[in-house]
Amino acid sequence: MDKIALITGITGQDGAYLAEFLIRKGYVVHGIKRRSSLLNTDRIDHLYQDPHIEKRDLILHYGDLSDSMNITRIIQECRPDEIYNLGAMSHVKVSFDIPEYTANTDGIGTLRILEAIRLLDMKDHVRIYQASTSELYGLVREVPQTENTPFYPRSPYACAKLYAYWITVNYREAYGLHASNGILFNHESPIRGETFVSRKITRGLARIVLGLQDTLFMGNMSSKRDWGHAKDYIKAMYLILQQEKPDDYVIATGVTTEVREFVRKAFAFVGIELSFKGEKENETGYVTSVNDKIFIEKVSHEHLTKFKSRILTDPNVIKVDPGYYRPTEVEILLGDPSKANEKLGWKPKYDLNGLISEMVDSDLVLMKKENYLRKGGYKILNYFE
Ligand code: NAP
Ligand code: GDD
Repeated sequence: MDKIALITGITGQDGAYLAEFLIRKGYVVHGIKRRSSLLNTDRIDHLYQDPHIEKRDLILHYGDLSDSMNITRIIQECRPDEIYNLGAMSHVKVSFDIPEYTANTDGIGTLRILEAIRLLDMKDHVRIYQASTSELYGLVREVPQTENTPFYPRSPYACAKLYAYWITVNYREAYGLHASNGILFNHESPIRGETFVSRKITRGLARIVLGLQDTLFMGNMSSKRDWGHAKDYIKAMYLILQQEKPDDYVIATGVTTEVREFVRKAFAFVGIELSFKGEKENETGYVTSVNDKIFIEKVSHEHLTKFKSRILTDPNVIKVDPGYYRPTEVEILLGDPSKANEKLGWKPKYDLNGLISEMVDSDLVLMKKENYLRKGGYKILNYFE
């Protein structure tokens, strides 16, 4: 019998990579997607099969983590061996705008899954992965952070995830569920949501060099993150559920980098050297030199000429908009993945340079397509955020 997995958040970054990974391993994957006014299955389009095919390895169900009946029915119908609870309102800044919704989805949503398993008497049949987060460490109590570092959440998102973390531990201890937390540090990819900082930078850079945008407005560039590649991190989720005993694991690279340095590295991949001057909201990132050979190789000769004339009039490509600041910030995250290294045998394949270069290349392809459409007289979207 094929193993059955249920993924909440299958239309998101991690859900898409995990679904692909599990299907390759021979799983039948069920996923929960929300009803939306536009189709929202771009990230899993390559896995999607015609619903009229009888034997499919990807089956989608309409659902929502705020609807316990719906969650219970889906679990009852597909009887998964493994549940990966990745569904969440996952944007930290947005959680300050919609705190109640965030608590309901990210906090109580986890409880709904755990209760459904108890209610359906499936605790000996199913293993649960809870998408916990390094945001739990917030105002960090120590550096680096381990499984034993105390939590100090700094946003409605992190507070909701704190509840989800502890309710997972509680159901494990109280009822013997095979339920585990992966405390994942930031992980990115070419399919990362466009408003997270990594993707915002690589998209903005691609638009700037192609003349589709003049300036990239940033928030707090002094914060530091331990960034990995989502492709590595979804493997850790799988490994966590293959362990005989449930447990909680930090998944991180063990390297932390400033947002400002991420920006600098991304521009360097297309041959642009940036320097920064000024403080806080008056800080700017300006072009100090352009390596023609790299720029032409990555972008084009035509755009090199245009970009050079642009920077003669205004070399400032990065500016700060305090609107992107958070009411309470998490200044530094750095994870110690020793336990995952030893117990799961997990080690990331990507380093930060590999991640950034893949993201930059991918967004250049995307924006070249946009530019081509624009030149052809077709409408392209701005996606201001
Ligand atoms: P993502 O790209 O934002 O995807 C989130 C997914 O959750 C999407 O499929 C979204 O559906 C779905 N969702 C949102 N609200 C929902 C609701 N009410 N009911 C059901 N589904 C809902 O996030 P990600 O980066 O893949 O992260 C996956 C999980 O890991 C999240 O729980 C996140 O909080 C956590 N996490 C992420 C990171 C990271 O660095 N990426 C690190 C630690 C933990 P739509 O497509 O319809 O919006
Ligand atoms: N999004 C965003 N946009 N962040 C910015 C910007 C900007 O313009 N400018 C600076 N930043 C800073 C943020 O203030 C934060 O310190 C850092 O960049 C990273 O922001 P995000 O990429 O939005 O990620 P996050 O760290 O807040 O949260 C992500 O990682 C968590 C794990 O630590 C999300 O994926 C969460 O869901 C996840 O739990």
